[in-house]
Amino acid sequence: MISKPNNRDLMLILAGAGLFAIAVVVGLMVGKKRNRSEIQATGQLISRGQLLYQGMCASCHGPDGRGDGISARNMISQPRDFSLRPWKTNIDLESIKKVVVQGIPGTLMPGVKNGLSEPDLDALANHVLKLADQTPPQIEKVFSKQEQIARDAGFVLLSRNNAPVLQLEDESGNKIKLSDFRGKKIMIHFWGVQCPHCLKEMKALMALEKSFQGKSFAILNVCVDEQDAKSAQDTANKFAPGIKVLVESSGIGLAHYEVQALPAFWFIDGDGKTFARSTGAKDWASNECGKFIESFLSN
Ligand code: HEC
Repeated sequence: MISKPNNRDLMLILAGAGLFAIAVVVGLMVGKKRNRSEIQATGQLISRGQLLYQGMCASCHGPDGRGDGISARNMISQPRDFSLRPWKTNIDLESIKKVVVQGIPGTLMPGVKNGLSEPDLDALANHVLKLADQTPPQIEKVFSKQEQIARDAGFVLLSRNNAPVLQLEDESGNKIKLSDFRGKKIMIHFWGVQCPHCLKEMKALMALEKSFQGKSFAILNVCVDEQDAKSAQDTANKFAPGIKVLVESSGIGLAHYEVQALPAFWFIDGDGKTFARSTGAKDWASNECGKFIESFLSN
């Protein structure tokens, strides 16, 4: 049976509600106070180097240097996770400063040139050193053997999707499609007549293709900044006589391959599915690259 609340019950309910309200207000005040002192504490901790880092580097390298900044998501060459090893450069103050000033040619790592004063450069490099000192993330341990081989050579494995269509053309006007290469493993090399690193690499790429002759492996040298195949071919011939180059006539294909910096490389399997990609010049004669291509050809 439900009884009507009498006056005494009502008093208790009101008192209870009152106490609760007071607890909430006090809680909020305490919370606010704590927040304020936390902000003050963090405020003291933000160094000049950290401030510069957050403004100039975090969009790619991530707020804590884990290589996971917002702009990194659709980048081909992943910005370094500073906690992982190896680095390309030495991990010391002078080498970091040099990379910050000059950037890394052929990758998306920009150079600030003369944009920073010496004390600011020091502060920034010191902060990067601190980030390099963190414990590496757990994911490092779960790479498969194939992934590790790819990473060691500077490539990222891709999920197996149909490779985007390209409309290619050679200097004689022959139209070429990726599907013409079904059954062959191909490496698409996106290069430009305006890209000195690309041109320097041409000879090594020719040698690479030759060293895998008879293994169903082809390199397609697709020029991205010249519409006229004959002219692209003439330029390439100066650096690697006899190399065969192509141009992409639609332009749309290039967008699908997210070619943001040159040179860029995509590996496509014999069934037309994407396998791996990378940006930036490589040492094609190195052990790491050789091992990676072996693993591509035998996967
Ligand atoms: C547009 C994206 C981007 C921005 C902004 C950027 N970086 Fe990078 N950074 C990269 C990429 C990509 C690489 C890896 C290049 C490679 O080796 O393939 C890199 C590499 C580096 C390396 C070399 C690590 C090694 O392996 O030797 C250092 C050091 C570095 N960045 C520091 C910085 C600092 C400090 C800033 C801010 C002043 C900065 N970067 C801003 C993209 C960026």
